Amino acid sequence: MTLKVGFVGTGGFTKFHCNLLAKMEGVQVRAFCATSLDKAERAAAEWNGAKGYDSAATMLDAEALDAVYICVPPMAHGEIEEALIARNIPFLVEKPIGLDMEQPVKLLKEIQAKRLITSVGYHFRYMDSTQRALELLKQRKIGMGLGYWMGGMPLVSWWRKQDGSGGQFIEQTSHIVDLLRYTMGEVEEVYAAYANRVMHEDHEGVGIPDVGTVTFKLASGAVATISNTCILPPHSQGKIGLHIYTDGGTLELTNECLRDLAPSTVMEYKNTANPYVREHEAFLTAVTDRRYVRD
Ligand SMILES: NC(=O)c1ccc[n+]([C@@H]2O[C@H](COP(=O)([O-])OP(=O)(O)OC[C@H]3O[C@@H](n4cnc5c(N)ncnc54)[C@H](O)[C@@H]3O)[C@@H](O)[C@H]2O)c1
Repeated sequence: MTLKVGFVGTGGFTKFHCNLLAKMEGVQVRAFCATSLDKAERAAAEWNGAKGYDSAATMLDAEALDAVYICVPPMAHGEIEEALIARNIPFLVEKPIGLDMEQPVKLLKEIQAKRLITSVGYHFRYMDSTQRALELLKQRKIGMGLGYWMGGMPLVSWWRKQDGSGGQFIEQTSHIVDLLRYTMGEVEEVYAAYANRVMHEDHEGVGIPDVGTVTFKLASGAVATISNTCILPPHSQGKIGLHIYTDGGTLELTNECLRDLAPSTVMEYKNTANPYVREHEAFLTAVTDRRYVRD
C-alpha cells in the first residue's frame, strides 16, 4: 500500500521533508501547491509524476491524497486547514500553527469534531534525549525549568514582521514551549516582557521584538521561564534548549543531547535517530492504521 501525499508551500522546509519522505517505503509525493502555478510546477518537476497547483482546494479536488503537509509561513494558515478538514484529509502542519489564539482554537474544534488525524511539526518531542528525560523524570520531582532560544535573525522577509511570523517567540521559541509542556506538564499562567533593542536599527522593516522573557506557572506547581533573542551576529555561539531542575539533579535538553547532571555524575545521552523521520513515521503510521479501520 502506498500513501499519496501532497505539500502546500514549496520553500526550504518542504524540500527538507520531501527528501526524508523520498527515503521512506510506501510514500509517494504526488502534488505541490504554491502561491503561483509556475512555482508549484517547478517544485513538482523534481518529483517523478508529481503535479503543481496554485490553490489548495484545486489540488485536493484533483488528487486523491491520503495526507497533506502544510509548510507555509505562520500568516498563511487558516484557509488551507479549512479545505483539508472539509474533505476529511489528515494533515501535518509545520509549526507555528497560527499568529493568534482564535484561529487555531477554531480549527482544533473542527478537527476534534471530525476526529481527523493531524500532527504538528514540533520535533523535539521525537528526540531520543527527550524520551530518555521522560523516563528519568518519572523518579524525580520537578522544581523549575529554564528554556532558551538564543540566536540570530533568519533573513526571509516574512520573519521580521509581527503579522508575518508572529515574532520570534511564536515562530521559533514555541519549539521550547512544546518541549516544556511535553516534559514538565501543562501551563496555567503566563507573564511576558519583550523589547526591541538592535535588529530594527540594523535591518529594514523589522517590527518584531528581538529580546524577550516569558514566565510560566505550571499546573503541577512548578515554575519556568523561557527567554529568546535574535540579535546574535552570524556564526556566534547561541543556545537552544531547556534545563529542568529536579530533586535528583539537573536535566539539560538541547537539540543534540540530554545531559543528566545527577549528584557526583554527569551522563550524556546523544540523539541517534533523526527526530524528523520519527515525526513522519508517527504521522503516516496513524494515517495508514486509520485507513485500515475505515476501509
Ligand atoms: N520544525 C522545524 O524544525 C522547522 C524548520 C524550518 C521551518 N519550519 C517551519 O516551516 C514553515 C515554512 O518554512 P520554510 O523555511 O519552508 O519557509 P519559506 O519561506 O522557505 O517557504 C514558505 C513557502 O510557503 C509558500 N506560501 C506562502 N503562503 C502560501 C499559501 N497561502 N499557499 C501556498 N503556499 C504558500 C511560499 O510561497 C513559500 O514557497 C514555517 O512556519 C517554519 O517555521 C519548521
